[in-house]
Amino acid sequence: MPKRRAKNLKNLKRLKNRCILLGVSGGVAAYKSVELARRLTDEEASVFVVMTEAAKQFATPLSFETASHNRVYSSLFDEPMAHISLPAKADCMVVAPATANTIAKFAHGLADDLLSTCFLSFRGNVIVAPSMNWKMYDNPVVRRNLDALASAGVAQVGPGSGALACGEEGVGRMAEPAEIVEAVRAALSEKNLSGERVVITAGPTREYLDPVRFISNRSSGKMGYALARTARDRGAEVTLISGPSFLGKPAGVAYIGVETTSEMLGAVTEAVAKGATVLVMAAAVADFSPVRESRLKIEKGRGLTLKLSPTKDIVTSVSSSRKRPFIIGFAAETGSRADRAAKKMKEKKMDMIVFNDVTEPGAGFDVDTNKVEIIDRRGRIHTGLMSKDDVADAIFDRFLEIKA
Ligand code: PMT
Repeated sequence: MPKRRAKNLKNLKRLKNRCILLGVSGGVAAYKSVELARRLTDEEASVFVVMTEAAKQFATPLSFETASHNRVYSSLFDEPMAHISLPAKADCMVVAPATANTIAKFAHGLADDLLSTCFLSFRGNVIVAPSMNWKMYDNPVVRRNLDALASAGVAQVGPGSGALACGEEGVGRMAEPAEIVEAVRAALSEKNLSGERVVITAGPTREYLDPVRFISNRSSGKMGYALARTARDRGAEVTLISGPSFLGKPAGVAYIGVETTSEMLGAVTEAVAKGATVLVMAAAVADFSPVRESRLKIEKGRGLTLKLSPTKDIVTSVSSSRKRPFIIGFAAETGSRADRAAKKMKEKKMDMIVFNDVTEPGAGFDVDTNKVEIIDRRGRIHTGLMSKDDVADAIFDRFLEIKA
């Protein structure tokens, strides 16, 4: 089979070389936006920061200059045409924190400073991350302004709920930088999976010995959740079927939580029957289940011999059905056993398999990166070590190549 490296694939590092205009208005959360600027530059985006005068009371231009590696803009008159030239080169505009005042200006078309004029002259995706006291956020006037922005196509991320700077608790905390980066990635994604109905499994399953003990594995769900976010960002309708995981449920996907292999089988069968076009089995499904599950907690005693039987194979159950989706499986192996993965693909009648040597440093279980080989009937692609989000992009890129 011909081998290729993933560096040719176009969607890797979605923010690389993209230009982000980061507006910072005067809220106490402005300091968090320094981290946002740093995260965006870490993703190889170019970041240009526009601060309002009030923002400078909360964070310094120097901090943003250091984080963005670019000069920071603030006045309409420092550089006469900055309100046209900065938006013209930006692919996306993010305003974080977006105060009630800035939201009101945007909603009413006021243009009395650099940030509000940039907003009016910008023609791409705008994301606002509101940040204010909960009573302000709850005020119908603020809500009306946000609704007006939403109907003008402005996306909103957050606010979250929790302790606020004023000492009160409630909804008004600016979304965390990681969440805002995710919103930027979504805004800049080509919607080339639109029309696809993608079912993704993630995390481990558990097989119980008794009411308190189970057999499971080290899967965190990170790979499957990255696939779900990526498919959603690229326009697919996504159902995420997840075993137990500490990860937050991704917004904008249908989420089904399961625990055992038979629950996962039931949920997959039902989701596929509803007309899935693609099934991605990233879950680390338990291969064995105790033959007998004790109704009561098993006493410690002197020792215990377990009798196990194989669990029902979910992939095979779907691939042998008459109306089957495109099936992408994973193969977690310990060592360079790509040929075993290829064999698994044929035996389980999958269309593609992602070979994952979980002994490779930075790959496999419970890490944010992975290194895989994508195998299908036409060839093999080595990804090299990259984020799980980028691996997810590489997998869907290959799916689209095959489908074309
Ligand atoms: O969750 P993370 O911490 O991010 O870790 C990611 C991962 C290592 C779990 C993931 O990348 C991965 O490799 N998942 C598949 C693990 C696995 O179960 O591999 P397998 O070789 O045992 O199974 C092959 C395929 O059959 C898999 O797609 C599996 O989902 C499926 N299977 C397995 C058993 C079973 N009863 N039914 C199945 O459908």
